[in-house]
Amino acid sequence: MIDAGSEQSTANVHDQEVNPWEVKGDADGKIDYEKLQKKFGCSRLGKELVERIEKLTGRPAHPLLRRGMFYAHRDLEQLLDAYEKGEPFYLYTGRGPSSEALHLGHLIPFMFTKWLQDAFNVPLVIQVTDDEKRLWRMNLTADQIYELGKENIKDIIACGFDPNKTFIFSDFDYMGGRFYRNIVEIQRLVTVSTRKAIFGFSFDSNIGQISFPAVQAAPCFPDSFPHMFGMRKAIRCLIPCAIDQDPYFRMTRDVAPKLGYFKPALIESSFFPALQGESGKMSASLPNSAIFVTDTDKQIKTKINKHAFSGGGKSEAEQRANGANLDVDVAWKYLRFFCEDDKKLKQIGEDYSSGKLLTGEVKAILIEILQQIVTKHQKERVKVSPEIVKQFTDVREMLDLFPGLKVTS
Ligand code: TRP
Repeated sequence: MIDAGSEQSTANVHDQEVNPWEVKGDADGKIDYEKLQKKFGCSRLGKELVERIEKLTGRPAHPLLRRGMFYAHRDLEQLLDAYEKGEPFYLYTGRGPSSEALHLGHLIPFMFTKWLQDAFNVPLVIQVTDDEKRLWRMNLTADQIYELGKENIKDIIACGFDPNKTFIFSDFDYMGGRFYRNIVEIQRLVTVSTRKAIFGFSFDSNIGQISFPAVQAAPCFPDSFPHMFGMRKAIRCLIPCAIDQDPYFRMTRDVAPKLGYFKPALIESSFFPALQGESGKMSASLPNSAIFVTDTDKQIKTKINKHAFSGGGKSEAEQRANGANLDVDVAWKYLRFFCEDDKKLKQIGEDYSSGKLLTGEVKAILIEILQQIVTKHQKERVKVSPEIVKQFTDVREMLDLFPGLKVTS
């Protein structure tokens, strides 16, 4: 998600507004996810689909999937039908480099994508949209943003992707060739009126902002990566992303059949809340709004204890008597994202909402889990040498990504 910049929303102050550049809740600051999914026209990702994924992959679903953080989709059934028949697909996700250190919210789609890559054993492309950030963030130079992208790539690699199946690219570096040709094909088919209807529009937008959606659309088409997929057009694409990215892919799905491609399928998540609560903005420029992957154990402890919004009683007596309101409690929300043990999580939920557990005790459990996750990430990240980065980012021949599969072009 990127800053609002000069793109203007026409919504009135009390309406929620979610697009790739702006996330604003209703009057109470909260996002109504059901309303959003309906407004966007995506489908609800229900239990049956989660079970189907488990059956097809032979693994228990990732916690983010079975607990409903990835809650909406487009054409996931069709994608799974095709997979079941042995047809190939690849994964596509991305990151707009806006800050040097990633926070936990940034990490979530990548952790989930890593699970998808392992579970389905499929190739993955990751787009680093340094161009997008330059077009919207006027206060950083292109060189600065490009360097942030390079740093972010190391954090992405630290999530554990398979170098033999993963291609990570900066738009600044990779622009050209078949990728650029596909961008132009998409640009030909999207009018300014369509651009306006999907994303909103202001005459103060710069012309790069207006045409950028084609750049984020093109990786949905396999022949944007001839070194991986040759000139094959009949390979499906699945995009794990946060739901604010949906407008880009609605546009892509409009043009895909006209250009002879499958429409990309999507699996979409809600947002990871700020420490201050759901209406708070988690921002790389507000250090106390988020846990960063560079934080020390001590910083994590202090941030959670001091800044994580509590839904618990005001005093110990009150908490014992009434229990906590889990709906607004940030430590609880974070545990739902990061505590993998279902039984333990359920017990915490029961004990905390009934008053048996105090906020401090729940926070202590969370602190330990987050310290472990962040320490592990830091250990993996120092291992990411320039050679390893090259293994992921070099444009190299990877034409045997679907062994044993017959792919028609
Ligand atoms: N626009 C996204 C951002 O600002 C980056 C991005 C590019 C992306 N391609 C994507 C995100 C595909 C999800 C899926 O962070």
